[in-house]
Order: sequence, then structure tokens, then C-alpha cells
Amino acid sequence: MKRVILTYGTFDMFHIGHLNLLKRLRALGDELYVGVSTDEFNALKNKRTFIAFESRIKIVSELRCVTHAFPEENWDQKESDIQRFNAVIFGMGSDWAGKFDHLKPHCAVVYLDRTEGVSSTELKQSVAAFQQNKLKEVIEAAEYLKMLVDSLS
Ligand code: CTP
Repeated sequence: MKRVILTYGTFDMFHIGHLNLLKRLRALGDELYVGVSTDEFNALKNKRTFIAFESRIKIVSELRCVTHAFPEENWDQKESDIQRFNAVIFGMGSDWAGKFDHLKPHCAVVYLDRTEGVSSTELKQSVAAFQQNKLKEVIEAAEYLKMLVDSLS
């Protein structure tokens, strides 16, 4: 019988931490099922993504280590998903340690170490800082041009 692993996430701006986790989870069994948070569910969590749900789930479902990706639409679907997919392990990154222990009567629950130094939140902050710097450069260039024009008139 196939050992099915189950996990969930938003996977915004898909990065190496996501890939490492999914590959390590897949290595625990034969098939990996991944719930990808919908934009509506993220809105409930006050989480805004850069990348739309349709693209996020497509990226995850195309990975070699992923057997099937499906929408995560609410907090309560995990128990029925465990049954529906016949999962033997529920796994998440260590930032969730302890948060899903209530699923232990249904299957094994594991928390794997996160990859250090990368997160979607940090990537979004870097993009915002980059945009801020670019804006500063444009303002400085505009001020310089104005100074030139003023000095000629
Ligand atoms: N994850 C990981 N290592 C990272 C980042 C994420 O192992 N460096 C794991 C999380 O623990 C989770 C899964 O990847 O089990 C999906 O996480 P997600 O929340 O989508 O990614 P984050 O980069 O943590 O996003 P955010 O910063 O918005 O929380």
C-alpha cells in the first residue's frame, strides 16, 4: 500500500525553502499531496500574496516530488483530507511546531526544520525595499534635471 504524505501552505513567490520542505516530506513516503491556500482563504488570514492562487497551485502541482495539489479553503478540512487521501503522515515546517498535534489521532504528525534565511515575507520585503530605492533614484534624477533646467533659464 502507498504511504501518502499530506501538507499545506501558501507557497507565494515559490522559493528554495518550499522546495526543500516538499522534497523532504516526499522522501518520507510514496506520494505527496499538497493543499495550496486559496486567495480567499488567505484573505481570511489577513495574508496577501504577490502570486495568484492559479499560478501558485500550478507551480506546486508541476513539481516532480508532488503527486497532487488541491485547494486549501478553510482551517477545518484537514481531518477530512487525511481520510480522503488516506494519509499516514501530516507534515509541516517547524514554524508550525505543535499547532497541528490535534491531528495525531488520525495520522502521524511531523514538523521538519525550516530552511534558514528565506521566506515569502522576506522576499516581499526585499521587493518593496528595491522599489523604494528605485523610486528614490528617480526622484533624485528628477531633482537633478530640474536643477539643470533652472540653471539654464
Ligand atoms: N518553509 C520551510 N522553510 C522556509 C520557508 C517555509 O520549510 N524557509 C515551509 C513552511 O514551514 C511551510 C511551507 O514551507 O510548511 C509553506 O510555507 P509558506 O507559509 O507558504 O512559506 P513562507 O516562506 O514561510 O511564507 P511566509 O513568510 O508568508 O510565512
